[in-house]
Amino acid sequence: MTYNEIRKLFLNYFESHGHKIVPSASLIPNDPTLLFTVAGMVPWKNIFLGFEDAPAPRVADVQKCIRAGGKHNDLEDVGFDGRHHTFFEMLGNWSFGDYFKEGAIEMSWDLLTNVIGIDPARLVVTAHETDDESAKIWKRVAGKDAIRLGKDNWWSAGDTGPCGPCSEIFYDFGENVPGGLPGTPDEDGGRYVEIWNDVFMQYNRDANGNLTKLPKQNVDTGAGLERWAAVLQGKFDNYDTDLFVNLKNAVSDVTGVHETDENKTSFKVITDHLRSVGFAIADGVIPSNSDRGYVIRRILRRAMRHGQLLGHNGALLSRLYPALVEQMGDAYPELRANATHVMEIITNEENAFADMLNNGLKLLEHELPKVSNGVLPGAVAFKLFDTYGFPLDLTQMILREKNLTVDTAGFESEMAAQKERSRADTRGTRVLWESRSELPATIDGAKYAPDENMESTVLAILRDGEFVENANDGDAVEVALDKTNFYGTQGGQTGDSGELKIGNNVVLNVTDAIRANNIVLHRGTVMGKISVGDKVHSVVNPQNRAATARAHTATHLLQAALRKVLNTDVEQRGSRVAPDSVRFDFSFGRAMTEAEKTAVENLVNEWINADMPVLHEEMPIDEAKKRGAMALFGEKYGDVVRVITAGDVSCELCGGTHVNHTGEIMRAKINKEKSISSGIRRITMSVGALA
Ligand code: SER
Repeated sequence: MTYNEIRKLFLNYFESHGHKIVPSASLIPNDPTLLFTVAGMVPWKNIFLGFEDAPAPRVADVQKCIRAGGKHNDLEDVGFDGRHHTFFEMLGNWSFGDYFKEGAIEMSWDLLTNVIGIDPARLVVTAHETDDESAKIWKRVAGKDAIRLGKDNWWSAGDTGPCGPCSEIFYDFGENVPGGLPGTPDEDGGRYVEIWNDVFMQYNRDANGNLTKLPKQNVDTGAGLERWAAVLQGKFDNYDTDLFVNLKNAVSDVTGVHETDENKTSFKVITDHLRSVGFAIADGVIPSNSDRGYVIRRILRRAMRHGQLLGHNGALLSRLYPALVEQMGDAYPELRANATHVMEIITNEENAFADMLNNGLKLLEHELPKVSNGVLPGAVAFKLFDTYGFPLDLTQMILREKNLTVDTAGFESEMAAQKERSRADTRGTRVLWESRSELPATIDGAKYAPDENMESTVLAILRDGEFVENANDGDAVEVALDKTNFYGTQGGQTGDSGELKIGNNVVLNVTDAIRANNIVLHRGTVMGKISVGDKVHSVVNPQNRAATARAHTATHLLQAALRKVLNTDVEQRGSRVAPDSVRFDFSFGRAMTEAEKTAVENLVNEWINADMPVLHEEMPIDEAKKRGAMALFGEKYGDVVRVITAGDVSCELCGGTHVNHTGEIMRAKINKEKSISSGIRRITMSVGALA
């Protein structure tokens, strides 16, 4: 049975048992705690928790998954056996408060033995040590005594969230294969392979490990399609099944090399990595230097290294992508629909790295004879990283071929030193302020609701690179106060302008407020005289403040509209919010059409005209997550966060200043949409009077 046939058979079976068939969700999860969709249950988490309604009480699907970072990570193991993948497909059937243990176990057994015809003697089942009910059902349904296990029969996606006891089904490859039964010391030998996991999702685990009952009793099952293919095609190695054989043939066509015992690791790595990279980019991931973009870049570079081991230099995955589309494009139409975009991005990545790979390998060859104790110095690994774009794990992978390792602590300290150097280069006067470690953090809580009566004390004045006690008329200075009403540049929003006053006299005409660590700096020109110790009032320019607030709320509306109109995984990649003007960078693989631009602009204006209330609230981060507030992945948030909610269209974690009603924005106009780097677009937009 081929992959295509197995998918069909699985879905048909569950459809005929009352399940609604749904397509796979994106590999980019709607969940800031995860880099990728790591299991079939990820898209259903909010339904288990009772936050969202299920599409039907019974559902079945085949979900794309990537396990290559974070808690679920198989990257380092790919290529060395027949079972590990970074990308895989998980067959799953779901009950949202409908059938429970009995129904799940009965259907699993019926499908495997009666429909597919697997010899029941080949199957071994397990149940959680506390779960007598499942053990009884197995006895009745299959005549089997379930092996009772502890933590291996408890499933959760993360440390917190929905979880429950599970019951697994193993296939016995026979006594010629080494390995013991589940729960025995040599269970990983390979003889018994888990082919299905029925999870009985009935608890929610909180951060302290406490379990509370979920609103309903649910079923989450997961079966690895690659393993089913191996069993049903009589292969021991997943990479010998039809889909992989075809992809490996494509590798031979492109490289001119055939698979042998010596090079089979490279064939596995390349075919596995082709799937991760191809599918992730088709779902909107862009290779980059951070979070999931970096995982994909690393995987792509590892694949190129293995191409090079086969004697093939230059573009590889971009040339293999058509074979992936041929194998999997019918089941996943997005591969075909986004083919031009995906190939363009992969080609750009491969071209950018090809020379670096060769030059870096030359450097490594030069350094290796000097390695005495089997450990490559951190400085060399760092040079490979910094100059030649070798992710640390790529260097480690290359060294593993030679039984060498890297001094990772040395690598990390080189990295920290370099970060420090680059900060020093770009921060100008900030470095001087940071040397004044005795200065307290500026108390700036009033920035959201400026208090005109607030009296502040001048703590320090910087003029021409020196701290001075007094500054005089016309001097350009930066001034630190103990507390302020000013918003200092942060999170892409430019700082306030305004005045520092003593009584009715303006002593500093503030053109900008910036930050050095936690100190807000009032930058401007002195009028008359200002001295350390002066008591001043910080007065924010209200027009400028209002114009910036308009732009900031409009930025949130813009993001919401892009996600709606482009109907894709648009993600913020950067923004600059200035008075009445917005610059918004986001991930998207092609130019927007005129119609899309107009639709986005119209939608933003529609929401402005609707004059929706904008709520500014502080709440615990968990509460914000429950509300589905959008957060920037990889950003560190405190326990208490600020959440900005515009009507029912946008809800984001945000520390900026905002209007109270969308109508205050008056109008928005998109001026330009362009590419700023591969897969990243930039929109500039005017709002308010400027629009
Ligand atoms: N969530 C379970 C797993 O990943 C079953 O789908 O194994």
